[in-house]
Amino acid sequence: MCGIVGYLGKRQALPVIIKGLKRLEYRGYDSAGVALLNGGLEIVKKKGKVADLESEIGNRKLEASLGIGHTRWATHGEPNDRNAHPHTSSDGKLAIIHNGIIENYSSIKKELESNGHVFKSDTDSEVLIHLIEEIKKQNNCTIEEAVRLALNEVVGAYAIVVLSKDNERSMIAARKGSPLVIGIGEDEYFVASDATPIIEYTNNVTYLNDQEMAIIKDGSLVVKNLENVTKTPFIQKLELDLEDIEKGGYPHFMLKEIFEQPKSIRDAMRGRLVSREHHLFLSGIDQYLNRFLNADRLILVGCGTSWHAGLIGEYLFEDIARIPTEVEYASEFRYRNPIVTERDVVIAVSQSGETADTLAAIELAKSKGALIFGVCNVVGSSIARASHAGAYLHAGPEIGVASTKAFTSQVTILTMMALYLGLKKGTISLSDYQTLLLELDSIPDKVAKILTKDEEIRNISENFYRASNFLYLGRGFNFPVALEGALKLKEISYIHAEGYPAAEMKHGPIALIDEDMPVVFIATKDSSYEKVISNIQEVKARKGKVIAIVTDGDTEIQSMADFTFQIPKTADALVPLLAVIPLQLLSYHIAILRGCNVDQPRNLAKSVTVE
Ligand code: F6R
Repeated sequence: MCGIVGYLGKRQALPVIIKGLKRLEYRGYDSAGVALLNGGLEIVKKKGKVADLESEIGNRKLEASLGIGHTRWATHGEPNDRNAHPHTSSDGKLAIIHNGIIENYSSIKKELESNGHVFKSDTDSEVLIHLIEEIKKQNNCTIEEAVRLALNEVVGAYAIVVLSKDNERSMIAARKGSPLVIGIGEDEYFVASDATPIIEYTNNVTYLNDQEMAIIKDGSLVVKNLENVTKTPFIQKLELDLEDIEKGGYPHFMLKEIFEQPKSIRDAMRGRLVSREHHLFLSGIDQYLNRFLNADRLILVGCGTSWHAGLIGEYLFEDIARIPTEVEYASEFRYRNPIVTERDVVIAVSQSGETADTLAAIELAKSKGALIFGVCNVVGSSIARASHAGAYLHAGPEIGVASTKAFTSQVTILTMMALYLGLKKGTISLSDYQTLLLELDSIPDKVAKILTKDEEIRNISENFYRASNFLYLGRGFNFPVALEGALKLKEISYIHAEGYPAAEMKHGPIALIDEDMPVVFIATKDSSYEKVISNIQEVKARKGKVIAIVTDGDTEIQSMADFTFQIPKTADALVPLLAVIPLQLLSYHIAILRGCNVDQPRNLAKSVTVE
């Protein structure tokens, strides 16, 4: 949430910052702003997208080789010009950009106000820059020391970059709970919320750890912690190509990412599933095999789409590996005083690896002795680093705010984990294991086949894009798919949608059904097929409109549904990997037909780093 960029070097800072902000816009897009330091501090900020900021800048000559920029997802204070970052100190000499929440801002603000500070915005971030100013004045210290002392006083999460008018060649960054990466080029430095603004210029980066500051000054980088102990930064090479973060000819990132799924699912299996040898290699599990095999419980934690993948994980682990499994919303788990012991294994599912609630949930479980296993996409992310072991998705950057390819990669990893543990525990026969491995290996091709029928989904969308409500129903492994289909639709098209277990419809939602209610059934040929057919009949009897996702060759449902979409046959446990694809496409096309911005839906941000 919120994207931050800083540049200090030999280039013009403004174009680097604007380009970087566009790459980070998936993190928030309520307002944007820049501060450039060249003799004076020039600040331009504007409500709206980075494009609005560009128009505001217009032809102004903002020449500087040092600057910072911010794209905001509002927490404290509505999105407007005043609350946009950067924020400045009372004397106008200091500027800050901030991602996160300063929880004790209110008490600090009162104290600062009593010392004469006047605030121009409603944000918690502005309080921080006034606090730094006050500490600097009272202690008569350097700016970096004032930042360090101020950060010792604040409670909450932050990634910040601070500029000082009196320090023309210096930029100070710090993090706690919100990500920050520093790019090291030739005589130039970059700071950003993720690596996407940096990759074009250098692939040498270092990730700041929590409670660390980076002081970039006079052509050098010093990293220290908040106790003032100097740290040696770990410089690593980015494994990211520029084309990974561009649209590659697709009109939207979301569509590109949907179409990347044959590859991203294959990449999740690469080096792990060797179907020729009928074998899985999961080194993260091997490291802690006994903990897994002797676990009392597996607890999957995540939020949103990642929670849905976790729910499929629960079905898989119990069905295949016979290990008692729970799936928890990270935000509930962390606050409900859960029972967790050292005999539990907690699996954190997160695309970004930065979701604040998921991170807090695993910290809690860790403190109670549980083993933490991370299933994350972003390499080096906070959750990945806080885990004892894990398996990366290797899905490549997911930039569309609605998660698509990360979901199928998460499910692929969880499927491999369940199969591996099932084999080790002897709860799945070798022949069933081998059959499922071969079937899993064929999933990327089957996904590719579904994608060739995108036009069919577009046609279905034309019949429903004006609907105000949708119901998604599925049973067994298809129930989480129904939840995911409904979430995809509501988040990008703003149509109200609910996912339900199909049999639960009778216990309430059936009251909603009339001729205006489209109902999406995931009705593939599995063990509950006949029962789902009865549910379809119940909807048709009440004049509901049925869109059914069915198995190739199904004629029975075709005769009763208004629209059907066929997907290739596969094992029940693997159906979610196929059934979700048409639902992603359905939400995409409906949103486009409604004129919505699918890559940047209103009110949402890709990486939820505040609770
Ligand atoms: C929905 C979506 C969100 C995320 C959720 C968790 O399309 O993207 O529901 O799944 O915010 O994010 P991660 O996976 O980064 O922890």
